[in-house]
Amino acid sequence: MSQAVGKLLVFGATGDLAQRMLLPSLYGLHVDRLLPAGLEIYGTARSEHDDAGYRAFTATALEAHLPADRKDAAEVESFLKRVHYQPLDASTIEGFDALAAKLGDISGGLAIFLSTAPSLFGPTIKGLESAGLAGQNVRIGLEKPLGHDLASSCEINDIVASAFPEDRTFRIDHYLGKETVQNILALRFGNSLFEPSWNARGIDHVQITISETVGLEGRAGYYDGSGALRDMVQNHMLQLLALIAMEPPARVDGTAIRDEKVKVLRSLRPIRATDVEKLTVTGQYTGGAVDGRIVTGYGEELGRTSNAETFVAIKAHVDNWRWQGVPFYLRTGKRMAERRSEIVVQFKPVPHSIFAERGGSLQPNTLVIRLQPEEYVRLLVMAKEPGLDREGIRLREVPLDLSLTTAFAGTRRRIAYERLLLDLIEGDATLFVRRDEVEAQWQWIDGIRDGWAAHGQAPKPYASGGWGPSAAIALTERDGVTWNE
Ligand code: BG6
Repeated sequence: MSQAVGKLLVFGATGDLAQRMLLPSLYGLHVDRLLPAGLEIYGTARSEHDDAGYRAFTATALEAHLPADRKDAAEVESFLKRVHYQPLDASTIEGFDALAAKLGDISGGLAIFLSTAPSLFGPTIKGLESAGLAGQNVRIGLEKPLGHDLASSCEINDIVASAFPEDRTFRIDHYLGKETVQNILALRFGNSLFEPSWNARGIDHVQITISETVGLEGRAGYYDGSGALRDMVQNHMLQLLALIAMEPPARVDGTAIRDEKVKVLRSLRPIRATDVEKLTVTGQYTGGAVDGRIVTGYGEELGRTSNAETFVAIKAHVDNWRWQGVPFYLRTGKRMAERRSEIVVQFKPVPHSIFAERGGSLQPNTLVIRLQPEEYVRLLVMAKEPGLDREGIRLREVPLDLSLTTAFAGTRRRIAYERLLLDLIEGDATLFVRRDEVEAQWQWIDGIRDGWAAHGQAPKPYASGGWGPSAAIALTERDGVTWNE
C-alpha cells in the first residue's frame, strides 16, 4: 500500500453523485476520524462558487442525504473547514493553472476523483498534465461510464494512461466497495467447507440477480444511450461473477485478486450472433405498479419511443476446467417487483438418495448470498421432519441462516464510497478495476451487442412491478431451472 495523500480534488463536485454519495461519505469518514488529519478536500465544477458558497452547498447536500443519526452540527462545521472550491470549465485548458494555484503545494500527495461526463475526460487529463497536476505523487480515480464499448473504453484508457500509469489509476466499480461483495471472498476463502464442491462437480448452476424498482431517475440522457447491459452487466454483474468464479488468490492484494478475476473474465464464452436469441433476453418496462404505486412505461417516461433495454437476462458460461458445463444465469432490470441483489449457488443433488424407497424426497442444497437490501448468507439444507415416520420419511429444506445484519449488529454499515474514497486516498488499489479487466468485460459485452444488432433484437415489453418478460423465465425453464424469487 502506498502513502495517504494530503489533498483530494473532486471533479463534478456539484453533481448528483457528489451530493448523494461523495460528500456524505467523506463526512462519514471525517466523523469517524478515518481521514488523514490534515486532508484538504477541493471541489471543482463549472458552477461559480467561492469556498464559502461551496461550503453552503455541501452543508445542504449533507442535510439532504445524511441519515438523521449522522447529522451533527459541530461535526459538519469542522468537516466544512476541510472543504475548498475552484470553479473550472474543464473543456478548455485555461482554468487549470488557477486550479493548480488554488491547490497550492501538492508535495504531500494528491488524489483526484473524476466524476464528469466522459467527453470531459480527455481535456481534463490534458489540463491536469499542463498544470503540473499529474506527477508522481498524484493518483486518479475514475467514475463510470468509462466508454460505451471496447474501442471507446480503450480510447479513454489511453488518454488517462498518457498521464497516469496504471498503478496510479483507480477505476471505480462501486459494487466492489460494498461490504457484502467483499464478503464473497471471506465466505469462499475463509471457510474450508465450500471450496471442495465449488466447481462443476458440485455446482449445477449459479444465478446472479440485480433487480431494481426505480426507473429512469432523471438520468434519461445517460441511460437511454446505455441500456441495462452496459449500465449493469458490463461492470457490476461481471465483477460479481468474477468473484464467485475465480481461483483462490494467494493473498488479498490488488495484483493477486485482479489477476484471478481477469482470468475468469477472459474465460467467458463469447456469445455469438447465432446464439444471442437462445442465450439472451432483453426487455423494456411498460406501465404497472411498483411498491403499490402506479408508474408509467419507459417510453412515456422518456417522452419518445426507444429501443434501449431496461432488462436483460443472459445465460453465460465460463470456459475453464472448474466451470465446464455450469451455466451462470444473469438478470437485471429496472422497475421490477423488488429491489434485490443476490447470488444463488445451486448445488448438485446427492448422487443417490437413500430415502427414495421410504418416500423421502430431496432438494439439492442452495446457497443464497443476499447483498442488498438485506445482508445474509443462507444455506438451504435437508432435514427430517420430526415424527415417527409411519407414513414414510418426510424431509424438508430448512435454512441455515447467517444474517450479517444481526451477527454484526453493533457495527456501522459503510456506504461503498466511504470504503472506495478512503482506499483512493490511501492508495490501495485492491478494490478498483484494472484495465485488462475492463477490456475483457467490454469484449464480451460488445459480442452480445453485435449479435443483437445482427438480429435486430428489440426488447420485449414487461409490466412494471414484475420479474421481466416471460422469455426470461423460459431462458432458465428450458434447462429445468427456476429463478429464485
Ligand atoms: C449504477 C447504475 O452503476 O448502479 C444505476 O448506473 C443503478 O443504474 C446503480 O441504479 C445500482 O446501484 P446500487 O448500489 O443501488 O445497487
